Amino acid sequence: MKTVRTIDELRKLLAPQRRKTLGLVPTMGYLHRGHLSLIERAVKECDRVVVSLFVNPLQFGPGEDLERYPRDPDRDVRLAEQAGADILFAPSTAEMYPAGAQTVVRVSGLTDRLCGASRPGHFDGVATVVSKLFHIVEPDRAYFGLKDAQQVAVIQRMVEDLNFPVTIVPCPTVREEDGLAMSSRNVYLSAEDRKKAASIYRALREATRKRKTGEVSTASQAVRMIREQLEAVPGLTVEYAEVLSYPGLEPVNELRSQQVIAAVAVRLGRTRLIDNVIWPKE
Ligand code: PAJ
Repeated sequence: MKTVRTIDELRKLLAPQRRKTLGLVPTMGYLHRGHLSLIERAVKECDRVVVSLFVNPLQFGPGEDLERYPRDPDRDVRLAEQAGADILFAPSTAEMYPAGAQTVVRVSGLTDRLCGASRPGHFDGVATVVSKLFHIVEPDRAYFGLKDAQQVAVIQRMVEDLNFPVTIVPCPTVREEDGLAMSSRNVYLSAEDRKKAASIYRALREATRKRKTGEVSTASQAVRMIREQLEAVPGLTVEYAEVLSYPGLEPVNELRSQQVIAAVAVRLGRTRLIDNVIWPKE
């Protein structure tokens, strides 16, 4: 008989010998090149890849865009297959949330800032559906985009706190030619707003440059600079612009002593867009 005292060792011992590496890419569909980059990376690193496609009602607040969230399941099937996915898991809402469910997964702290502050309950919905997907699929590796950097931090925290036996793989943000981060929601933008949307990454890139040259050396300077640049765009409203530690999302002042995130959420017309850049410790 073998006595095991650490969770890691126990899991290693229990892991079936044979098991191939299974990758999971959770999505809400309407796939674009950002999603596809995650699938392609998973295909490179795993023997089998499951892509999930589920517009999760639990992560949409009242008055948000659940009903009009863009959908094109036939195209998604084609794109996921072309990218090399082995299985597309596209459950119904009843399959994922049978009547009577009473359990929610909540990551506290990290979720009261940034998007968590403006979308109360959003990250409970994300953490709950991702936990369910992890239990359903039991992936070895799960792929998430840094476009949603707070989501990555929340999932990573949840995985550590609840000992999910999965490695989270954060993947870089894929952008349009003018810098706009790809998003399923970009299709909501009018032609005019689409042009204005490029100013989001322009502001973040300019802040990145000024941080490098030393023109910007504190979080409050960076925030002021980003805000000013965004507020100069007619019709654009800044929901938040913040510079915080990453992944801890704590307030910071000096920018070089730790890794930080400069994160923004803006509204253009009825459309809410988010973006961020991560500045490593120097
Ligand atoms: P969704 O917005 O469809 O995004 C699915 C995954 O693609 C997320 O990990 C997201 O960060 C990543 N992604 C989106 N745009 C990207 C881009 N431009 N570059 C790189 N990656 C990008 O995020 C969700 O769905 C949901 O919250 C989900 C995790 C599926 C839970 O319901």
